[in-house]
Amino acid sequence: MSRLTDSPAWKALTAHRDAMRSVHVRDLFATDPRRFDEFRVDAAGLTFDFSRHRASVETRNLLCALAASRDLAAWRTRMFAGKAINHTEDRAVLHVALRGGGGLSGAAAQVREEARATLTRMGEIARGIRSGAWRGASGEAITDIVHIGIGGSDFGPRFLMDALRDLRDGPRVHFVANVDPDDLGDALAPCRPQSTLVVLVSKTFTTIETMTNAEAARDWLRAGVGAVLEQHLVAVSNNVTAARAFGIAEANVLPMAESVGGRYSVWSAVGLPLMIALGPEAFADLLAGARAMDEHFVNAPPAVNAPLLMALYGVWYTNFFGAQTHAVLAYARRLDLLPDYLQQLEMESNGKRVDRDGQVVDYATGPILFGNVGANSQHSFHQLLHQGTHLVPIDFVLVDRKSARQPFRDILHASALAQAAALTHGQSAPGTPERDYPGNAPSTTIVLPDLNPHTLGALLAAYEHKVFTQGIVWNINSFDQMGVELGKVIAKPLIGAIGSGTPPAGVDSSVAGLIRRLAAK
Ligand code: F6P
Repeated sequence: MSRLTDSPAWKALTAHRDAMRSVHVRDLFATDPRRFDEFRVDAAGLTFDFSRHRASVETRNLLCALAASRDLAAWRTRMFAGKAINHTEDRAVLHVALRGGGGLSGAAAQVREEARATLTRMGEIARGIRSGAWRGASGEAITDIVHIGIGGSDFGPRFLMDALRDLRDGPRVHFVANVDPDDLGDALAPCRPQSTLVVLVSKTFTTIETMTNAEAARDWLRAGVGAVLEQHLVAVSNNVTAARAFGIAEANVLPMAESVGGRYSVWSAVGLPLMIALGPEAFADLLAGARAMDEHFVNAPPAVNAPLLMALYGVWYTNFFGAQTHAVLAYARRLDLLPDYLQQLEMESNGKRVDRDGQVVDYATGPILFGNVGANSQHSFHQLLHQGTHLVPIDFVLVDRKSARQPFRDILHASALAQAAALTHGQSAPGTPERDYPGNAPSTTIVLPDLNPHTLGALLAAYEHKVFTQGIVWNINSFDQMGVELGKVIAKPLIGAIGSGTPPAGVDSSVAGLIRRLAAK
């Protein structure tokens, strides 16, 4: 048994789970008409409805006691003070410093100062491009930004640009991540080199997908505007030397702090295309929304602390009910990339099996996250949610856009509320088991008061703090990603082999056979 599963807080939850197994949430609603008020939390302008969980007040208390027994508050203080809580890489974890909230101290306060300087430089670039003062080599204003990056150097700006596209009043932004040439080809197709700025985003500046696209984009620029690309190339990286060696002017290399992981980096210069397309004020609003959620996370008592409760209900189902998945259903077309963003945030952070003490854990950690946009998802996988054999905790995300057209707005929201209610209450159909809905499927409903940079900043920060909290409970390091390395190492010698059709020594017969197959004319 690990220290976690052997702890009094864990054992108390195990005993409580046995008692809760026979409880149906519809009965909890029936006996307490105030249940919504009891379990509703307001945080940074967002509303979180936790009433649809298999939980009583006692459950919540026991879960909060578990977090306390894991020293959550002390770990949170360590993060905001810039301590090296990413112990495997001996790094601080300082995405919170980029938002510049209060309560930062130590190394975090120092990074906040650096972040301010970077924001100033980002503002100069963004204002120059937006006003037309920044011109391409042939004198044309910049009309298109091509953002090249992958993983954490892509998902954040891609998701937010898509979500906030109606607010764009600057250049168009095109994203390139995959090393499939169609990705770059599609992005460049509507652009002209003379009026395009390529932003290369890579913390390491060594990622093969990004560097391959970067070289091809540089060739495309050169063919259009000649050798001097100062006005057409910007880099965001922690590896300034490599970015300079790539040919990027010193003033055009924006820093990415070592203490900010890719999947936590949208608040940094990685968000430059957002600032260019939406304006510096919109970017400031994004940071302000995240900062408001930071302050809530630091100051709100556990029972009304939204990110903490998101995390703890996740632990409840993952560890005490055997749930292996978690669904995110955003009832807003503009949030359809939210599951992609959260997949990296949650699964790259908490998809770990070794704890902070180097021991293989004897409990489950981060679940498989999936999702889609509602109502489309209702006509796809909701059948499984309602009547399948898996327990799938769900986040419903609603956006309260009062200005949205009718009857669309009402139907969209009614659909979400109906799904959440149906999944809670179920419906029995005596004599026709095929029509029986068991219900008792847990969900959180999150309502954004509008779709804007502030609300999205708060939403993403809430998920970040959820991930942090779960990592502390599970005693894992949420901030490294060692598991992505092996595939990269194996791929290296295969690259030349694909071209020659000759498998390198030591590969298995599947790789060898498929290399020959791929090389065959
Ligand atoms: O392979 C995973 C990963 O390291 C992510 O964690 C990161 O966001 C992505 O690759 C891109 O890395 P980089 O910004 O260094 O190009």
